[in-house]
Amino acid sequence: MELKMDILTLAKWEKGIQPFLGRLPVQLVVEKYSKGRLDFLAQLKKEIPVDICEPPQELARTLWGIRFRTPVMNAAGMFKNGECYEMVAMQGAGGYLGGTGTWNGRRGNEKNGVYLPFVKYGKSNAASNFLGLPNEGDAENSIRAHTMGRMLNCPIGWSVMGSPNFSGEEKLKYLVSSMRLYENANVDFLEINESCPNTGEGNVQDTGLVERLTYVKRHFLDERVCDDGRKRVIPVIVKFSTDTSLEQVPMLVDLLCSLGYDGVNFGNTSTQYEKRRAGIMRCEQKLYDYFTQTFGGGVSGRPLRESSLELCAKAVEYVKQGGVMREFNVIRTGGVETWKDIEDSARIGVLLNQWYTGYFKNFSEVGHRVYERLWER
Ligand SMILES: Cc1cc2nc3c(=O)[nH]c(=O)nc-3n(C[C@H](O)[C@H](O)[C@H](O)COP(=O)(O)O)c2cc1C
Repeated sequence: MELKMDILTLAKWEKGIQPFLGRLPVQLVVEKYSKGRLDFLAQLKKEIPVDICEPPQELARTLWGIRFRTPVMNAAGMFKNGECYEMVAMQGAGGYLGGTGTWNGRRGNEKNGVYLPFVKYGKSNAASNFLGLPNEGDAENSIRAHTMGRMLNCPIGWSVMGSPNFSGEEKLKYLVSSMRLYENANVDFLEINESCPNTGEGNVQDTGLVERLTYVKRHFLDERVCDDGRKRVIPVIVKFSTDTSLEQVPMLVDLLCSLGYDGVNFGNTSTQYEKRRAGIMRCEQKLYDYFTQTFGGGVSGRPLRESSLELCAKAVEYVKQGGVMREFNVIRTGGVETWKDIEDSARIGVLLNQWYTGYFKNFSEVGHRVYERLWER
């Protein structure tokens, strides 16, 4: 598959400057990466692969009666406003995830003169971001979701979150309204983001988790089940941080199962900077320290690989032992980069993976063959 020159140039630009990054002032590197990411995404939006990738049929997985062509799809935050469905479907993605969306449109974070701070640690296959949920709002994006041309067995999910611009019951009311918008837009499943590190809220330690999830149960989950058969039951999963401790997993799975949720995703980026630093190459630690000390943000990529696998293994084991009667799926996100990672997931009983940092690493190397390359190896 061939790439158009402009997107290829952008991907190569980044590789070209990598050897010199260590010599540039760290603030400048962050500025370049933050701007470069936005330019890259603007170009990516215009991309359509020349060929369609047809994944081998044996890779298909069925979760909640929905067929995913392959066991890997993009993670939330990659296509916040519903961009690039056709592109990833043609690349061979197992599914597509839009969002995270919020009820109101949000500009996202700006700090120290950097808009949407982001940096990549190329040699460590990792990244940091402090974006703060920029998106055009769920009213606009649910219309986009509704009008997307669908491809067979490439289902569409949407990630949603209570907007940090509201609080209390108002915030939850809007969250449920957003979920309804996407349900009516015929999205195949929903993912609630309970773990954004960049808005000062939303992690497992938060008081209010039980209240929030119970509110959604009462006002959304329970209403999906209609005995006259008019409504479909759209699966809803919840995404937690990869910083979740293993001891918390049984409590979280119990909570989600008892309230009627359909799965869990481990997980989101990390704010355990000291722990994740061990996975950052020495030559990139100065940049890492600068970003995490100046912006904070969430760490993604290879440093999360073990945590996501361990958390998912614990969740799968607990679901099996606990004798959950309904279908409840565990989804893995964090450090997924190669086919071996997907095999590791399958071995512990995880059927579906999401990737972000690994997707872009592979994209910069092989362009639209990004999915195909996984199973060809
Ligand atoms: C730039 C960037 C933006 C992200 N935005 C979101 C988001 O809006 N919602 C969300 O749930 N996760 C978001 N994430 C987290 C990813 O979905 C994923 O959970 C995390 O990056 C770990 O996966 P990875 O190691 O494959 O990157 C974002 C990650 C990055 C790098």
